Amino acid sequence: MCKRLIPVLVVAAPGVWCVPSAPDATAVQTATERPANTDGVLTFAVTSDHMEDLPKNIIKGLVDAKPKFVVLNGDIVFNGREADFRKLTRVFLEPLKQAGIDWYPVIGNHDFPVEPNWKKFWGQDKGRPYYSFDSGPAHLVILDSNKLVYGGRTYKEGTELAYLVEQSKDLAKGSEQYNWLAGDLDKTRQKFIFVFHHEPAVSFGDHGSVPALQRTLCPLFEKHRVTIVISGHEHSYQRFVPIRVDLVDEQRPKPVADEANGVVYLTTGCGPGGETYEVGSSPLHACAKRLATFTTFTIDGNVIRGQAISLPDLKAIDVFEIKSRR
Ligand SMILES: [Fe+2]
Repeated sequence: MCKRLIPVLVVAAPGVWCVPSAPDATAVQTATERPANTDGVLTFAVTSDHMEDLPKNIIKGLVDAKPKFVVLNGDIVFNGREADFRKLTRVFLEPLKQAGIDWYPVIGNHDFPVEPNWKKFWGQDKGRPYYSFDSGPAHLVILDSNKLVYGGRTYKEGTELAYLVEQSKDLAKGSEQYNWLAGDLDKTRQKFIFVFHHEPAVSFGDHGSVPALQRTLCPLFEKHRVTIVISGHEHSYQRFVPIRVDLVDEQRPKPVADEANGVVYLTTGCGPGGETYEVGSSPLHACAKRLATFTTFTIDGNVIRGQAISLPDLKAIDVFEIKSRR
């Protein structure tokens, strides 16, 4: 079901631009090294939220982009169903494999309730709920944000959300996952840090921002000068100007623009069949569009060049650059 298309706000920022979208516009987890595409240049792609129904042209778009790997940023199947994992293999992973493209899954809120097939399907390495690895000049961190978002509330026993909270890994301050993340970010000396978790800390989309993520994770991201944090969940595209989260009132975290000390946040992905959700406007948006997308990142020297590609028409709807802050 598609929701009403609403106007989006596009804010120009130095070195970045948002391409008009007119129809005719053109677990314990040690870092391991994964090779880049070629010497000094790494291209990878990020998508999410397609669940049981891939948007048209997503395989063509990903294969044409020639990434080294694709990060599947959660809600890859619907409620962990074995039938969806089998379909995923046939219609998504096999074509990627034939094109020489690897993949890394991130666990979303739809990926393991009701049928717990996540680890069985992805295996001991990629089935870990949180881990990191290096590729070329990049350090990539994959987190399980589900419990921090949905925990702290009581759900009826046996329901999907009760199961989700019970099965996902805690990310609250002092938890095993949080301590691992703090140590991992402390240790890395890579020039670029990419962090992936399914639910966004900062968003003006259908689900919105999550104060618990802002309180817990954003100070770590700022301290370690993380390059970009990428989420899904929203079925819309949102790229933000560098943001610092003001925690003077810890109960009400306030994201503010901060070019010098902020972190770039981005949501990308699509719903089943390309279903999108409304996205509101904010002066913190560098680009926001109600579109199903995947996003590519190419690291060349000291610069990341990013592109958001719309589905199913495969048009570049946002093109941007981010420099290393480390
Ligand atoms: Fe989700």
